[in-house]
Amino acid sequence: MDGKLVIRKAEIGDLIQITEIYNDAILKTTATFDTEPKSSEEQAIWFANHDDKHPILVAEHDGTIVAWASLSKWSDRCAYQDTAEISVYVLDGCRRRGIGKMLICEIIEVGHRVGLHTVIARITEDNDMSIHLHESMGFKHVGTMKEVGKKFGKLLDVNIMQLIYD
Ligand SMILES: CC(C)(COP(=O)(O)OP(=O)(O)OC[C@H]1O[C@@H](n2cnc3c(N)ncnc32)[C@H](O)[C@@H]1OP(=O)(O)O)[C@@H](O)C(=O)NCCC(=O)NCCS
Repeated sequence: MDGKLVIRKAEIGDLIQITEIYNDAILKTTATFDTEPKSSEEQAIWFANHDDKHPILVAEHDGTIVAWASLSKWSDRCAYQDTAEISVYVLDGCRRRGIGKMLICEIIEVGHRVGLHTVIARITEDNDMSIHLHESMGFKHVGTMKEVGKKFGKLLDVNIMQLIYD
């Protein structure tokens, strides 16, 4: 990809482009089990639920957001305070160019810095690329939830992968 790719903390002004990337994945992929596009109101709540310990990062290329990643609270129950769930979405058309890998790598480092203990990824069974990427970052497969989702008429398993910081 020509030009400079910048990875930085997401700002509220990025939310429209973040939402476009996510809504496209909702409609076209099994990567997320959301089935209806998110409204700007829902996304504003999602954004506000993140903070320094639960970052959202974006990859920006020539002023366009081409990917985003987040570490979201795994649960509101307090004992889970150092556990987060990772999400990563690259703009269709910009995939398989190393952007997802860069973003996952960066957000994992941020998670370490802010004091998380462990990061969990829920990855649909048919998402070989995401499984491969998370494995390459040190995530281990810790379980499979069988037939927990149905999308595009197909029952789907979800792999749970986990990274525990040293
Ligand atoms: C999954 C996703 C985040 C990956 O980001 P990306 O920028 O496309 O991926 P990258 O180019 O950084 O890396 C792709 C890696 O997968 C590998 N790969 C490509 N096709 C593959 C396949 N069919 N099976 C396994 N690995 C594959 C590539 O070789 C590369 O690995 P390497 O760096 O070790 O060579 C991105 O494709 C995406 O947004 N997909 C739709 C949403 C999604 O699935 N999000 C993740 C939800 S868990």
